[in-house]
Amino acid sequence: MTTRDYNPVDRVLINLDQAVRTVFGHPQTTERPNPAEGIADTELSEKERKHVARLMRINHTGEVCAQALYQGQALTARLPNVQRSMERSAQEENDHLDWCETRIKELGDRKSLLNPIWYAGSFTIGAIAGLAGDKWSLGFVVETERQVENHLNEHLAEIPRNDQKTRAVLEEMKADEMHHADVAKAAGGTALPGPVKFAMSLTSKVMTGSVYWI
Ligand SMILES: [Fe+2]
Ligand SMILES: [Fe+2]
Repeated sequence: MTTRDYNPVDRVLINLDQAVRTVFGHPQTTERPNPAEGIADTELSEKERKHVARLMRINHTGEVCAQALYQGQALTARLPNVQRSMERSAQEENDHLDWCETRIKELGDRKSLLNPIWYAGSFTIGAIAGLAGDKWSLGFVVETERQVENHLNEHLAEIPRNDQKTRAVLEEMKADEMHHADVAKAAGGTALPGPVKFAMSLTSKVMTGSVYWI
């Protein structure tokens, strides 16, 4: 999304539209296919199905947060080339949103009811990070993507071995997040202070703990 040539009212409307699409609808994805497409679904016990669905719900909310962070940051980023280099990453987060939602539905579960709250919070954090300056907001993206990568590794280790559909989605997302971190670093992202990193991982623990159930 580009914010050039838009007045403040346009920007608010564009961001509201994006927020509603992310949380309640279907935001625009890229041309890439769902990595789980064509993979046969497997027999899971009721307990496994519920657990995987809840993990995918966490991943879906994580993508809602990622989208909100990118949008908030785009609103306040100073350099147009920073906005542009982040655009493709933001679009790929929509693919992730879509893939996670599809998997949740296949597993017969629902998205988190807390998504509007997490979107609003992440958008605000993204906007503040953008205001702090491009190198900090890009550093924030680098750190977010790295923490998401770790967390995807944990889920990959946790899901049943035979659930190839979920595995395919998580593997592709992980590869993307690693690439997003590299893009943000190459665009000028700087390392964040330890306490900020710690606060971020604490927030993510609150998110994963609550979304697993709600
Ligand atoms: Fe993502
Ligand atoms: Fe990402």
